[in-house]
Amino acid sequence: MNKWALSIQNLYKVYPGVTALKNVSFDVKEGELFALLGPNGAGKTTTIRIISGLTNPTKGEVLIYGKSAFKNPIWAKSQIGLVPQSVNLDTELTVEENLFIHGLLYKMSLKEIKERIEELLEFAGLSEKKKAKVKELSGGMKRRLVIIRALMHRPKLLLLDEPTVGLDPHIRRKIWNFIKTIQSEGRTILLTTHYMEEAEFLADRVAFIFSGEIIAIDKPQNFIESLGKYALDVYFPQKTQTFFFKHQEDAEEMLLKYSKQYLVSLRRVNLEDVFLNYMEKRQ
Ligand SMILES: Nc1ncnc2c1ncn2[C@@H]1O[C@H](COP(=O)(O)OP(=O)(O)OP(=O)(O)O)[C@@H](O)[C@H]1O
Ligand SMILES: [Mg+2]
Repeated sequence: MNKWALSIQNLYKVYPGVTALKNVSFDVKEGELFALLGPNGAGKTTTIRIISGLTNPTKGEVLIYGKSAFKNPIWAKSQIGLVPQSVNLDTELTVEENLFIHGLLYKMSLKEIKERIEELLEFAGLSEKKKAKVKELSGGMKRRLVIIRALMHRPKLLLLDEPTVGLDPHIRRKIWNFIKTIQSEGRTILLTTHYMEEAEFLADRVAFIFSGEIIAIDKPQNFIESLGKYALDVYFPQKTQTFFFKHQEDAEEMLLKYSKQYLVSLRRVNLEDVFLNYMEKRQ
């Protein structure tokens, strides 16, 4: 028995003139929420598209519960729920119709489709919108709808490509809680994002991906602690510099020193500091 729900092994994707993925490997445990965190163009969507069977890798393997996704494409598809980066609902159709079509595509019986629609609309707080056209929904509602559409056929693995991009902070937090609830019901989730606070809030483990390469994988807390606990931003006239400390006394000592002359702010270290630190090291 393979303990990994998802195992990505040495993936390469070469487009003419661009190597989108270079030797990408990571494993996701059953029930885990794993985040692929990286800037624009890092290769997040390419990874998701390969796992979902939408594009082939140049080289490498994807195992789902130990079985090759490429050798068992139909089975793999049934195990995966995909929420693509751009919301691709049919806006002229109703909420119910969008879910219905997905059920048909996944060869669910009519009875099963109807029951599942009721159940998921209730779960997403969208029951009252069942007959509404998608174009009448707010951005947050549309996002919840694409997520439950991906859950229609009861996949074990949910792939979320930038699930909160373009949403305001309040709605974004609502979607975060919604994703947490889905995970707590026993699903394994792979999420991509370039929002540091999203990965910090949601992920059990995070992989940083830059220019098609995974450069580090760990728990958000471990990444943060590797830098320190306290961050002191000092606003020098030419540039802002951040200093990291393990102990509060050391941070306060420096705060006192610099605050006589410059604007300073003392705060907790976060995942964005870790990200920026990696970016600086690469330059
Ligand atoms: N069909 C394609 N043909 C050629 N190049 C591509 C294609 N799809 C992606 N790329 C390139 O591969 C690289 C990775 O793209 P990808 O969409 O995976 O990044 P991403 O991390 O999802 O970025 P974003 O945060 O902007 O969504 C980029 O350099 C992109 O231009
Ligand atoms: Mg993308």
